[in-house]
Formats: sequence, C-alpha cells, structure tokens
Amino acid sequence: MTVLIIGAAGQLGTELCLRSKERGYNFVGVDYNELDITNESSIQAFVAHINPTIIINAAAYTAVDRAETDIASVFAVNRDGPLYLARSCVKADIPLLHVSTDYVFDGRKSAPYHETDTPNPQGAYGQSKLEGETAVANTLEKYITLRTAWVFSATGNNFVRTILRLAKEHDELSVVADQTGAPTWAGDIAEVLLEIVDRIHQSMTITWGLYHYTGVPVTTWHAFAETICQQAFELGMLNKKPFIKPISTSEYPTAAKRPQNSALACARIQEELLISQTDWRKGLEQVLIQWKKNNELST
Ligand SMILES: NC(=O)c1ccc[n+]([C@@H]2O[C@H](COP(=O)([O-])OP(=O)(O)OC[C@H]3O[C@@H](n4cnc5c(N)ncnc54)[C@H](OP(=O)(O)O)[C@@H]3O)[C@@H](O)[C@H]2O)c1
Repeated sequence: MTVLIIGAAGQLGTELCLRSKERGYNFVGVDYNELDITNESSIQAFVAHINPTIIINAAAYTAVDRAETDIASVFAVNRDGPLYLARSCVKADIPLLHVSTDYVFDGRKSAPYHETDTPNPQGAYGQSKLEGETAVANTLEKYITLRTAWVFSATGNNFVRTILRLAKEHDELSVVADQTGAPTWAGDIAEVLLEIVDRIHQSMTITWGLYHYTGVPVTTWHAFAETICQQAFELGMLNKKPFIKPISTSEYPTAAKRPQNSALACARIQEELLISQTDWRKGLEQVLIQWKKNNELST
C-alpha cells in the first residue's frame, strides 16, 4: 500500500504526513513545488510513477480574501485540481479522499448544516470548493469528500497564531462575536482520514460520498479567541490576558463574505463510519504545548 498525500506542507498535509509516519504507512507526501495539481499531465505521470493505492488531497487555495481578486488561480486549484486528481484515480482504479469547506453554505440557516442542505457559496473560494466537490462526485465512484471548518494547527498561519501574536502585542483586541462555527484541529482531521485509509486497506465496506466533520463544541470567533488566550496564559505563554472586545461582522469588513452560521451537523459520519467528533480545545492545547516546547511565540 502507498498513500499519496497532496498538499503535504499545509496544515492538514503536515499532520497527515506526521501521522502516516507514526502509523508506519508507506506514503509519499508532495506539495506545490513537487506536484502542481493544476497540471493534469504532471498528475497522470506522477501517479503512474508512484502507483499509490489511495490519494488524499489536502492541497487547496485557502486565501479566502485574496481569492476574490485571483479568480483564475482559485478555480484552477480548487475546482480543476480535484477534477484532475479524480480522473487520475479513475485511471488507476483507486479511491480519492478529498477535503472541502463550510464556506459552500451561505450561513443563513439557524441550525447546523447537513450534507443534504443546498449549498450557496458567498464568495469565490466557497464557489470554487463547491465546484471541486461536484467535479469529484461526478467523476469518481470511490471518493470521500470531508467538509470541515475553522482549521488550525501548529503549522502555517491561522487564527490561533494570529490571536496569540496580537495578545502579546496589545492589551485589547476586537474579535467578531456574531459568527458561529466549530474550530477543527488538523490533527483530528488527519486521524479521521487515516482511519478511513485503514479501512480501505483492510477492504472493509465504506459508504462513499460526502461527509461533514468538525470539532466540538460550536463557538464564536470571540469565544475561540478567549479560549486561546486563557489556555496560553495557563501554559505561561502570555504574561497577561488581553481584554477581548466582542464586535459585529459589520465592524470588521473583509473582501470575502463569511457565513454567519458555519456549524456543520456531523451525524452522518458517526452513523455511517462510526467516527466521533473531538473536542477542539484538546487539539488547541496540543498546538500551544508544541509551540511552547519549540519556544515559538512564547513570552
Ligand atoms: N484553513 C481552514 O480554515 C479551512 C477551513 C475549511 C476547510 N478547509 C479545507 O481543508 C483543506 C486543508 O486546508 P489547510 O488549512 O491545510 O490548507 P493550507 O494550510 O493552505 O495548505 C494547502 C496546501 O496546498 C498547497 N497548494 C496550493 N496550490 C497548490 C497546487 N496548485 N498544487 C499543489 N499544492 C498546492 C499549498 O501550497 P502553498 O502554501 O505553497 O500555496 C499548501 O501547502 C483544504 O481543502 C481547505 O479548503 C480549510
């Protein structure tokens, strides 16, 4: 068995590679510089060369605001890339594990979104990810698309890193308090995907298709920021906690519109694949402990 991990240097890709190594998998992790998923002939040649038993696509164009003015690139990476990967999986007769986002929804629903709810993306990133999902579903039978949200990890730039940096620099921060969603540790998403890989390799029956998976509990960006500062303070990474002022979305304008409610209902993955959600606060603690150990962002 060989697992091909695409987007290996990103938040999720890094966790997938780390955990594949820990599990003793035979895997190949590649990022942009080794394999550009917008180039179909490179993908076909690479897949033929590696001969994987499964592909996990963790690559994406994730700069949500930049996407609004970089339309060609975001659709090339998030729509065409997954299509090309799906075609190469058909050719090799192997499954594809793909990842998508809460941004496919408009956020107007007052309850968590189910897989059967109709998407209505509000920006270029969400639209491109939705078209990527559709391309995979229309091309390949054996696929899992996992929609997740508010991803954080010890790698790269994310909300946790930004809040910790700002908390070190300022006594007061302003954070949006009227958007709800569920933070998700990339380590937990990687575990879910590798659990599915295990089952595929054991030839267990898999119900293919679209699944939602996020951490628990649902929160707001403001409450998430409060938890980050509280945990960092308890770990001695902050000398004092800043005052975090709750503000409304209208007070923090962004190029891309964010869904007001981003919560994803995750019952299907529990029922079909017996996979439970994990408390994101545990993942957050892992990330902070790792940064503390590496002397990253500490006081
Ligand atoms: N981050 C979130 O909050 C969030 C929320 C919901 C869903 N998701 C989804 O979760 C998945 C993983 O996200 P993430 O946070 O791990 O993203 P990430 O940290 O931005 O990693 C994405 C990786 O893909 C690479 N990439 C970009 N264009 C590529 C190309 N043409 N060919 C090959 N690789 C390319 C990037 O390289 P460069 O850095 O060099 O561009 C980067 O290493 C994505 O499908 C994303 O849409 C993320």
